[in-house]
Amino acid sequence: MKRDYENALKQIIGVTQDETDLIANLSNISAILKEFRGYFWVGFYLVKNDELVIGPFQGSVACSRIAKGKGVCGTAWAEARTIRVENVHDFPGHIACSPFSKSEIVVPVLNEKGEVCMVLDVDSKEVADFDRTDEIGLEKIAAQITKLITEN
Ligand code: SME
Repeated sequence: MKRDYENALKQIIGVTQDETDLIANLSNISAILKEFRGYFWVGFYLVKNDELVIGPFQGSVACSRIAKGKGVCGTAWAEARTIRVENVHDFPGHIACSPFSKSEIVVPVLNEKGEVCMVLDVDSKEVADFDRTDEIGLEKIAAQITKLITEN
């Protein structure tokens, strides 16, 4: 399937530009990304105190809380960097919310102070389903969310 992240970003800007509520915007961004490539699971974990707590998502039931440094999400938060995992079985400490998830990418989203305030987690049923194109595209979307947070 074509990975037209420019188009997904345009849709995201269109849907979020007149809405100031963060949860409303993250919900629609999840829906846009789920439709975009038929990802198995796509959603947000929000930094609340010293944990990640599940936020808006599209997909099956997932764990509600993740500690800093745990799993792919907690590591992306702790290290403030995108983590792409070709095969979840090769990632030590991967949190298996579903046996169907085979590869994933987690992108941190920064707030106006430059701190990680949430992570965007995208999971696929295929092994090695994410490449540099996904990384760049999803990081642009994360930057757009930072812009929304900063402006609202
Ligand atoms: N993949 C995550 C857990 C969350 S679920 O996949 C939705 C992780 O290991 O951080």
